This record gives sequence, structure tokens and C-alpha cells, in this order.
Amino acid sequence: MSLNPLASELNQTIAEAHPTALDHLSRIGKALFFPKGILTQSAEAKTRAHRYNATIGIATEGAGPMHLAAVQHYFHDLDPSEIYPYAPSFGLPALRQAWAAKQRAEMPAAEGQEFSLPVVCNALTHALSVVGEMVIDAGDVVLLPDQLWGNYRLTWGTQRGAEIRTFPFFDDSLSTFNIAAFTSALDKQDGAKTIVVLNFPNNPTGYHPSKAEAAAIVQTLTDAAASGKRLVVICDDAYCGMFFDAESETQPLFAWLARAHPNLLAIKVDGGTKEAFIWGLRVGFITYGIQGGNRQLYEALEKKTAGSVRGSISNVSMPAQSILAKALANPDFIPQQAAKVAILRQRFEAVREAVFDPQYADCWQAYPFNAGYFMCLRLKDVDAEAARLDLLERHGVGTIALGGGDLRVAFSCLELEQIADCFARIADSVRHLRAS
Ligand SMILES: Cc1ncc(COP(=O)(O)O)c(C=O)c1O
Repeated sequence: MSLNPLASELNQTIAEAHPTALDHLSRIGKALFFPKGILTQSAEAKTRAHRYNATIGIATEGAGPMHLAAVQHYFHDLDPSEIYPYAPSFGLPALRQAWAAKQRAEMPAAEGQEFSLPVVCNALTHALSVVGEMVIDAGDVVLLPDQLWGNYRLTWGTQRGAEIRTFPFFDDSLSTFNIAAFTSALDKQDGAKTIVVLNFPNNPTGYHPSKAEAAAIVQTLTDAAASGKRLVVICDDAYCGMFFDAESETQPLFAWLARAHPNLLAIKVDGGTKEAFIWGLRVGFITYGIQGGNRQLYEALEKKTAGSVRGSISNVSMPAQSILAKALANPDFIPQQAAKVAILRQRFEAVREAVFDPQYADCWQAYPFNAGYFMCLRLKDVDAEAARLDLLERHGVGTIALGGGDLRVAFSCLELEQIADCFARIADSVRHLRAS
């Protein structure tokens, strides 16, 4: 494939800015660029066309975008200019800055380390797909724990042709992150680039590492990079900040991974979806960090990433971005968010009480859980799909069967007073199926 001159320019900038960063990109990542053409000409006209601006692909009327009262009727505190025009492919500048400030506040350990500015995507699923374009070639190994969000297989396995390889997430007693299995899985990777995915808090288990576990994971990855392995570590931080016990590492692991080693490119994928409870608004972010990374490198990566956005969805919903930018600037945002997380924590505590009640010792083991929206049961001697169907049929209770005996329960959508009863019903299904 012959490269567009703009892609070659970006690759040269990356190569000059950092000794190894270019090696982390896929063939498409190397070919990506942010087109000039209409967008650049429109941007230029915005500052210089003082008489008429006939560049932009929207319709205007008077001083603002043309719009219908039947639509505007549904917006109260947003100006038409914050709703109807296209957003930049990079995302709204105010939103990118606000999200970057939020990330910084959450990661004091990264003080002094430069990151890219976050590039806005259509929530995390799209961000993970864009990251796949940037760093995954067909045949590349994507290393994941065996408890994973199933959509990774579609996004990276099916769509990008990656080889999805898993390692046992927990030790045999289901008590802690299986650092030995993780280290050995990394050791088995030869010189080729490896893409490692860390999703903490985890979907489906609700596991989040303790401070000691997090340090061990970072150290293992740093050692692997220092031994010459080329690593891209994708941190899927969908449930960032939602942990419920005192031992949890409170900072995203990106804080340390982004400065770990020049052979390790860390990519943080996060967004408003779960954290700000705006699932359907679809706003997510991609942020890069690598030891020795500087502004030139990050600007080039941002341009390639925005090029991927431009070439797939063009840009992300303007009203959704305007709403999140304004919400982040609202001093009530953080206390309101904390109040909702406190509700989830109460539910978590009720779930823990129910799950570990000795009366259910014959029914299940629980995967380690202390964070996020979910927990996962390993049912004893019962197939999870059979349990799921029985729970629907005899109890009207919906759960997710994950294969084998693993049943996922989203306590994020159970009211406090429903939790004990819900687990009593799951136990009833397990015993019923075992007896039949
Ligand atoms: C671990 C994880 N990553 C990503 C996503 C996708 O989130 P979004 O709705 O922002 O695309 C989910 C959603 O369930 C998730 O659990």
C-alpha cells in the first residue's frame, strides 16, 4: 500500500519524536492520517472568512445553524450552536481538555508524565475498534484474562483478525489475580508485538486489583518490556473509579504504565458511558502514554486516531459532547457521581452478604469481586445456561450465562431490597436443577 504523504509525514514525526513508538502501530495505524481538504479549509475559513463562510456542510440561518422547533423543543439548556453543527473529528476541544483534567486528577502517580490529549470516540466500543485499527494487524496476539468482555472477540478477533489468547485470571482457589499465569503467558510471547488488555474493574467478574496486585501487574509488564518485548497495553477503564473496598488501587494502572518503558505503549480507553451514567449518549476517549513521549509524538498519534474516526463515523454526537463538557464543568458533577457510586457500594455490600452466606455454600463459589457493575458466580455442578433458563422460567429473574458454570449478575440494576431474594432464587434454581 502506498502511503498518503500526510501519513508519511506523521510517521516521520513519530520516528523522530520517539525511538520505538512507530513499531507499536499496525499497518493501518502507519497508513492513517488526518485529511486536509474540506475540514482544514473550513477551519481556515472560520478564522478568516469575515464576509461569507460558504464552506461548512450544514445549513445556517441568521447567526446560527438552521433547525426545527420540533427538535429544539427537547433541549432546554443547550444553545443551537451546541447541538446541531458537526463536532471536530478529534472531539470538542473543551470536552477533551475537561476529560484530560479529570484523568490527571485521578492519576497523581503520573505527575510529570506527558500523555496525548484524549480523542473522542462513539463511546468505548468504538474507541476499542479505533485502537484496534491503530495497533492490531491480522495474526497479532491479543492477550486477555479468561474472564473477559465478549465483544473484544468480535472487535479484534473477527474484525481485525487478531489471535485472542487467554490466561487464567485467578488462582485455583479464586482468591487473587493469577500473576504467575500472567507472567508465564507474557514469557511465552517471543519477539513479536503483543497486545495486552487490562480491564479493571472487570466485566464480567467485578474484580479490581488491590494496591499490591496492581503493583505486581505493572512490574511484570515493565520487566517484560525491559527484556525486549514490544507491548501495547490497552487499559479498558470503562468502570473507572467504581471500586468498593479499602484495599483497591485507587488510580488507573495507566498512571504507571504510561511511563513504564519505551517498549510499552499504554492506551487508556475510558468514557462517560458507565462513569457518568450516560450509556446511550455515546462518548468515550482514547489517550496514549509512553515513556519518553512528547507533544510531537502525541499530536501525530492524535491525528492518526482522529483520521480513523473521520474515516468511520466522521465525528461524535455534538449534543452528547456538549452535555458531558458542561456536566464536567459543573461543581455538582463529582458529588453527584460519588452519591451514585455510594448506592452501588451499598448494593455490593448486600451482594457480598448474600453470596457468602453459608447456607449457599453448596450452590456456588464467587469470583473475586469488589468493583464495577457485576459479580460472577461459578455454580457448583450446574450448567449456567440451564440455571439462566430456570431462573427465567420459574422465577422471572434475568441473569447472563457465560459458559460452563459461570453466571453473571449485574447488581448495578438490582435495588438493595431485591438482592437477598435474587440470590435466594439463584440458589433455588441451582438446587432444583441438581435434584432433577
Ligand atoms: C469492559 C467494557 N468495555 C467496554 C464496554 C463498552 O462500553 P460503551 O457502551 O461505552 O461502548 C463495556 C460495556 O458493557 C464494558 O463492559
